[in-house]
Amino acid sequence: MCGIVGYNGKNSVTDQLLNSLELLEYRGYDSAGIATMNKKTGKIKIRKCAGRVADLRRICENDKKISTCGIGHTRWATHGGVSDTNAHPHRVGDVLLVHNGIIENYEELKDHFMLHKDLKSQTDTEVVAAVLNRLYDGDPHEAIRKAVKYLKGTFSLVIMFVDRPDVIYAIRNVSPIVAAYNENGTMLASDVVALAGTADQYIVIPEYVITELHKKKIKLFDLNGKKVEPEFLEIDWDTTRAGKGKYPFFMEKEIMEQPEALRATLDGRVVNGEIDLSVDGIPDDILKDCERICVVACGTAMHAGLVAKAVIQRNLRIHMDVEYASEFMYEDPIIDEKTLVLAISQSGETIDTLEALKYAKKKGAKSIGIINIKGSSIARESDYVMYTVAGPEIAVASTKAYTTQVLTLLLLIGRMAKVRGIFDEETEKIFMDNLLQVPEKLEEVLEKKNDIHKIARKILDAKDAFMLGRGLDYSILLEGALKLKEISYIHTEAYASGELKHGTIALITENTPVVALVTQEKIKEKELSNIREVQSRGASVVLFVREDFDLADAEYTDVLSLPVMTGEFMVFPASAALQLLAYYVSMDKGLDVDKPRNLAKVVTVE
Ligand code: AGP
Repeated sequence: MCGIVGYNGKNSVTDQLLNSLELLEYRGYDSAGIATMNKKTGKIKIRKCAGRVADLRRICENDKKISTCGIGHTRWATHGGVSDTNAHPHRVGDVLLVHNGIIENYEELKDHFMLHKDLKSQTDTEVVAAVLNRLYDGDPHEAIRKAVKYLKGTFSLVIMFVDRPDVIYAIRNVSPIVAAYNENGTMLASDVVALAGTADQYIVIPEYVITELHKKKIKLFDLNGKKVEPEFLEIDWDTTRAGKGKYPFFMEKEIMEQPEALRATLDGRVVNGEIDLSVDGIPDDILKDCERICVVACGTAMHAGLVAKAVIQRNLRIHMDVEYASEFMYEDPIIDEKTLVLAISQSGETIDTLEALKYAKKKGAKSIGIINIKGSSIARESDYVMYTVAGPEIAVASTKAYTTQVLTLLLLIGRMAKVRGIFDEETEKIFMDNLLQVPEKLEEVLEKKNDIHKIARKILDAKDAFMLGRGLDYSILLEGALKLKEISYIHTEAYASGELKHGTIALITENTPVVALVTQEKIKEKELSNIREVQSRGASVVLFVREDFDLADAEYTDVLSLPVMTGEFMVFPASAALQLLAYYVSMDKGLDVDKPRNLAKVVTVE
């Protein structure tokens, strides 16, 4: 997704912008650019290119770095191909602009303002710059106020006017902007990772608030020109931890950080052996009174919801739906004031999830966000929030966010069981014992990383692969399959193993690679017999299995035993093994593990 940065201060703005853009590379992009203005000389420089920030840095290397005010952008193409011309910033007349989001009515605006002669690119962003320029008559606020009334869609706009060389302006709708200041100046960005190490506090720019970045202060105004008081949030994780440290890729670092992240997520939420969510401010009555639960999420976050569904339906006997957020609003879902919606999102900015949440709230549902980034759009839209304490997750492929999401959901479910009087003493003890063992049991799997690496080498050259399991194992494998395909590009399909014989088994031939997961006592015999069905057709089966299960006599290419946990808690050891499998396949294939092709870390377009 596009990344935006802005800086206004006493340091050389070029280096400041380039360094901040590098911190946003993890969001995924295809081109980059900066624009700087020098108040003394009035000189405006725009440097932009298709390619990486490193390419942009090379373009800037001979520039005199004396300007101290500027904006920058990494583009993830939505309108118009990847080219230098379509890269941001865009300049039209007196206006320089970078943008994250999608302007749905940009074609109409072209006609309405008769802009065609003004435009050089195929982007919606340049149209916005042209509209601003057309409306600008020396008053930036007036031009911005008028322009946003025409815009349909999502936008974070960061603007400079050529006759105001020492102020940066910004305004947003849905797409996020955060801002901060320190003794060197003021800065803004699409997300707090780009503010790494610059400040202890930051502001989430509210929607439709005109923001001014001056050398020493940030000023906020509503659309009527009234001053708005900024609300400061703590940057409560050490953003310098966002470096790779001793690891070759962020993904390996984040896989290895999971025990620490899981401990941090538990911290403060288990008091005297009981689950206590008062730290999250979630009232027991919404856990007690809801009659159905609905998860809205995307990708990995949705897979975390599937695990929660298995636990909730099995233990709480509450009806639960888990919906792809992008589908949710178009299915006429059954949502009312007795529905509890769980919006799960690492970034808290996934627009599909945000829009689904808003839709559900309009239908009367109460909502709890399961979010990693404080102050994010989904966190602010949710009635209540339980933060996963995973810390910054930079790799596009989500790992520690997933396991901390599942753990957070289990905490919520445990509290729900408590307030509904569902757990008897023994069940509660088993649940709590497993909850507290999660970090160490996952750690036991990380210690098997070399065994998993050996297994990974055997599927390196596969074009297709299957992951087979039933019930909860199938839900866990949906996430395992997403990990493998999104970073190794092997077409991997997770399949309910009992369903395979109803058609898809036609695809199983000699040496088809299959990863089978068997962790659930009550279905293990059926799973083992489904595995024999594919083995009899030549499949090469790697088995991930709970270490206390006695295996059938079938031959496996490899067997990886997983430390024992009760029932649904097996998701933690199993997921860690699947994450490492995908990681090693991608790394051994020499791929860009952290920034896989076509993907973005935060998807802020629908
Ligand atoms: C998973 O590895 C991907 N990064 C992707 O599926 C991601 O989980 C999805 O886009 C949702 O992102 P969110 O958790 O930030 O909302």
